[in-house]
Amino acid sequence: MADARAPAPDAPASLAERVAALRWYHTIDLGHGVVTPGVDDTRERLARLALPGSLAGKTVLDIGAWDGFFSFEAERRGAARVVASDSYSWKGGGWGTKSGFLLAREALGSRVEDVEIDVMDLSPERVGAFDVVFFLGVLYHLRHPLLALERVASVTRELLVLETVVDLVGLGRPAAAFYPGTELNADPTNWWAPNIEGAEAMLRAAGFSSVRTVTPVRPAPYRAARAVWHQLRGRNTLALAFRQDRAVFHAAK
Ligand SMILES: C[S@@+](CC[C@H](N)C(=O)[O-])C[C@H]1O[C@@H](n2cnc3c(N)ncnc32)[C@H](O)[C@@H]1O
Repeated sequence: MADARAPAPDAPASLAERVAALRWYHTIDLGHGVVTPGVDDTRERLARLALPGSLAGKTVLDIGAWDGFFSFEAERRGAARVVASDSYSWKGGGWGTKSGFLLAREALGSRVEDVEIDVMDLSPERVGAFDVVFFLGVLYHLRHPLLALERVASVTRELLVLETVVDLVGLGRPAAAFYPGTELNADPTNWWAPNIEGAEAMLRAAGFSSVRTVTPVRPAPYRAARAVWHQLRGRNTLALAFRQDRAVFHAAK
């Protein structure tokens, strides 16, 4: 006798089943008790961005949105229009795809728009200009970061929120580390990471007149503990890892 509790063979998959069938970068609460199993602790990173509490009436562009956590967050904070853009992962260049973004948008009943475009192709003619632009976790993936920041500046009207890996902490003058191979997180798609002074100087050189580091690197004991952990796992040497972290910058025209 058929088990009355088992779903019919042609029953549509539940949200939980559809989520489980995908690989996720972001941890997104989709409601109904379903949270995407992202490899990234996205909710912890959100706190470090120091985003305006309200984005009411603002237009927002999220560059390199991937599963879209930050786009949906901008919408939740009242943005009038949000555009999520990406290219590499949405085109299947890595292990992720666009399927997570599409499913999350559907599950959240979101009106976030999507545009597939490479950072280097951004221009006011192609996508328009936005009050607020998110450029989170993308800069270090680019071969030409200063040129990319110029493209990003061209579509930013008021505020750019930049989050990036930083390296060479403590050097005391603007610089960037270059990763020709897999030096950063064993990932060949990582190319450059500036230090804090370097990131600030690049933002000014790209056309932003007001630049603030809103979340600097974490204190030395934290970085030391993390460096030991990275070395134990064979991911990095102690000396290099100690000088790396992530930081967040707000830049205005
Ligand atoms: C580390 S993930 C960051 C995702 C999200 N912004 C965040 O902070 O969680 C890097 C993202 O940048 C995108 N990306 C990398 N190179 C890109 C490029 N040239 N143009 C547009 N997006 C790019 C990738 O596809 C990926 O979605």
